[in-house]
Amino acid sequence: MCGIIGYYGSRDPKQVIYDGLKKLEYRGYDSAGIAILDNGKLKRVRSAGKLIHLKEKLDNEKFTGNIGIGHTRWATHGVPNESNAHPHAVGKISLVHNGIIENYQEIKEYLLKEGAKITSDTDSELVAHLISREIEKGSTLKEALSTVIPKLEGAYSIAALSENEPDTLVAVKNGPPLVLGLGKDECFVASDAQAIITYTNKVIFIDDHEIVVAKKDKYQIYDMKGSAISKKITELDMSPDAIEKQGYPHFMKKEIYEQPRVVAAAMSPHIDVANLKISLQVVSSDSNGEALKQDELYSQLKHFERVFIVACGTSFYAGLTGEYILEAMAGIPVEVEFASEFRYRKPVIPKNSLVIVISQSGETADTLASLRMAKEKGAKTLSICNAKNSSIDREAFFKMYMKADAEIGVASTKALTATLALLNLLGVYLGRVNETLTRDEEKSYLRSLQALPSEIEKVLAYDSFFDEAALTLKDYKGFLYMGRGVNYPMAMEGALKLKELAYMHAEGYAAGEMKHGPIALIDDRMAVVVVAPTDDVYEKTVSNLEEVRARGGQIIAIGTGHNERLKSLAKHYLSLPKTSWNLNPVLSVIPLQLMAYHVADRLGFDVDQPRNLAKSVTVE
Ligand code: M6R
Repeated sequence: MCGIIGYYGSRDPKQVIYDGLKKLEYRGYDSAGIAILDNGKLKRVRSAGKLIHLKEKLDNEKFTGNIGIGHTRWATHGVPNESNAHPHAVGKISLVHNGIIENYQEIKEYLLKEGAKITSDTDSELVAHLISREIEKGSTLKEALSTVIPKLEGAYSIAALSENEPDTLVAVKNGPPLVLGLGKDECFVASDAQAIITYTNKVIFIDDHEIVVAKKDKYQIYDMKGSAISKKITELDMSPDAIEKQGYPHFMKKEIYEQPRVVAAAMSPHIDVANLKISLQVVSSDSNGEALKQDELYSQLKHFERVFIVACGTSFYAGLTGEYILEAMAGIPVEVEFASEFRYRKPVIPKNSLVIVISQSGETADTLASLRMAKEKGAKTLSICNAKNSSIDREAFFKMYMKADAEIGVASTKALTATLALLNLLGVYLGRVNETLTRDEEKSYLRSLQALPSEIEKVLAYDSFFDEAALTLKDYKGFLYMGRGVNYPMAMEGALKLKELAYMHAEGYAAGEMKHGPIALIDDRMAVVVVAPTDDVYEKTVSNLEEVRARGGQIIAIGTGHNERLKSLAKHYLSLPKTSWNLNPVLSVIPLQLMAYHVADRLGFDVDQPRNLAKSVTVE
């Protein structure tokens, strides 16, 4: 949450930083600002609200410098106004900060006693005061940071500039991500490589407790003891095109439409098409970025007797779906937990457990902390990430990739369906390893998976239906989403999508639980969305629907093929292509995504940047 960027080079820093902030805006959009060293003096421009407001101000500003920093904010301490916007400036320094300083109260009391003039409600400004005090004593920016860092508790990535050192950009990481970009006679620091990929694909991923001192044509990275360290330069294979809307009105719409291609790309490395055989490609920390050979993978995965899946938000719902799939296919007990809960209790992780962490961004603070805890407890870990080289990807032992390209819309869509495809492949693989699936069953699951992209394509046709239906759907007082079995997690995902985009009350329930409370909510102003494909719990779900109907609930039913019974019960019936039981969630979530998108759009909300949210939750 919050995006930071710094630039030093011969391009126009205002332009480079503003472009970078546009790519980082998904990390927070409560306020934005930039600071540039203009003729040796710090000049700041800040604005409350989205980046567009900053742009209006920047258009009237001229800078002559070549070094600067920028920030886009997701508010933690202090309301989203201009005085709380970054960069913060004190004395001769200015900084941008992503993270939370947990002992800020203590620092604030100390600074107030010392007579500091504090002008914002943020924890970040306090850090600027501490650094400025060290600069006044004659320290360089790097020395000042080294002195101040041990006084900070919490998580932070900071980039800073000093009027005393107009040729130096300094940054530090302890928690939130930070990347150093290297161009020809120019350097960048940023929260995410996407922000700088237009300019360079050569990057160094900064680890915790490292300080970067970057000049135009050279850089040095130090550890906290002040010793210089050398780090690997990575050449990223990332296309700047992936972070454009490409003609779609919103990133979310583009990402929904990308799902057939993305699901195919996620699956393709793992299926031996010629022999219709699973050939799971898993990289391990020991394998130099190469996928493990099939016999090695087999022997490494064979001994797991229990699986934990840990994630947040949409990735958590993918994990819950995975529980149904892995248990049914591979006969292995699976526990799924919110990362924010898992990390703070004392989970018993038996020997021979595999802890799977799922994260699109690979930077979610709670998921990362859970991964670290699982490793400390001696568990083997497997990450399913979209962002290659993210913290989670780098720290997990086994790694699988969503291959979904950049997901910019704050609401996760294509990362979810790519993950569901991967969990299915993992289920088939573990089923083979554990000898719970026959060869014929393996082939049949793989055939269904191969057909999935074209089936998703068909379901996308509901786009125009929801464009129209959203006109009336937006007026319901609330939404209940129901599903059973493997489709139950997608009921919760559908509700999450509507909540986060349309700000409407929505709940996802296991259909069988309706009678135990939520049915009391039902009347003719309540919409009930039911995911009821024809599977082994279909009849049970239909009985629950009858109960809803008898109480006046307005039903939107999602079922398989032509289904007169669901049609007669529902106000709207949406038909999915017939697929294997385990893939119904992938198909049924598409209309749920489209529905949330259109309802939010009809209500006039910003679907790509819903209020109060950020794409990458790097603070707990
Ligand atoms: O990057 P991650 O997959 O770890 O993110 C997890 C959640 O923050 C994310 O899925 C969030 O719930 C989305 N806003 C859902 O649309």
